[in-house]
Amino acid sequence: MFNLILFGPPGSGKGTQSEKLISRYNFKHLSTGDLLRSEIHNQTPLGLEAKNLMDKGHLVPDEVVIGMISSALDANLKTNGFLFDGFPRTSAQAEALDKLLELKKTSIAIMLALEVSEEELVQRLLKRGVTSGRSDDNNDMVIRERIAEYHRKTAPVADHYHKANKVVMVQGEGTVDEIFNALCSEIDKRITEINGTV
Ligand code: AP5
Ligand code: MG
Repeated sequence: MFNLILFGPPGSGKGTQSEKLISRYNFKHLSTGDLLRSEIHNQTPLGLEAKNLMDKGHLVPDEVVIGMISSALDANLKTNGFLFDGFPRTSAQAEALDKLLELKKTSIAIMLALEVSEEELVQRLLKRGVTSGRSDDNNDMVIRERIAEYHRKTAPVADHYHKANKVVMVQGEGTVDEIFNALCSEIDKRITEINGTV
């Protein structure tokens, strides 16, 4: 199994690139944001609680998202590998993920971190807010709060994987295809290393 984390601030292109990566590599895409929005759509108690926090630009509690990821791993054991998008987002989530993968005798192969300037992030999200229907996209203050949460709680997750030498930074500005090609080249390099041919 080849498991990767696509990392980066809100609006950095994680969802856009995930779609292309899963079609090339046949990964199972696990986006906690998408899972939470599906709970909101189905009006579950978990969805209602999460919506409150998401609309303010805050993270939902660790135990909620860790529980969702744990169930998703159990339901997809025959996959080629998992692509984590928007998870882990705190150090506690990163530690929990390492343990869950260890129980399944696997681990994270690489974290690809998209780098995009704050002004570009805000512009992209405001633009999407016009058509997306995402209530966290149509307010400049909420977008800035999401980015602030990222710096406070999520950025330290990269340090966790840095220690294990698994982080590769990728330029997240440019065309979608340019960024996709850069991501694929890092993934292919890592697959070759793991297979021992380098
Ligand atoms: P989540 O759904 O994960 O949203 P996010 O991280 O805020 O990021 P986005 O999905 O908005 O951006 P993205 O990086 O996927 O970029 P995209 O490809 O869409 O989380 C939402 C909320 O859920 C959180 O705030 C939190 O409350 C909660 N949550 C989720 N996971 C959680 C967790 N693990 N723990 C706790 N809480 C959690 O692109 C953005 C826009 O830019 C699009 O319009 C796209 O078309 C455009 N774009 C993409 N690439 C380019 C490019 N190269 N050039 C120009 N435009 C581009
Ligand atoms: Mg996304």
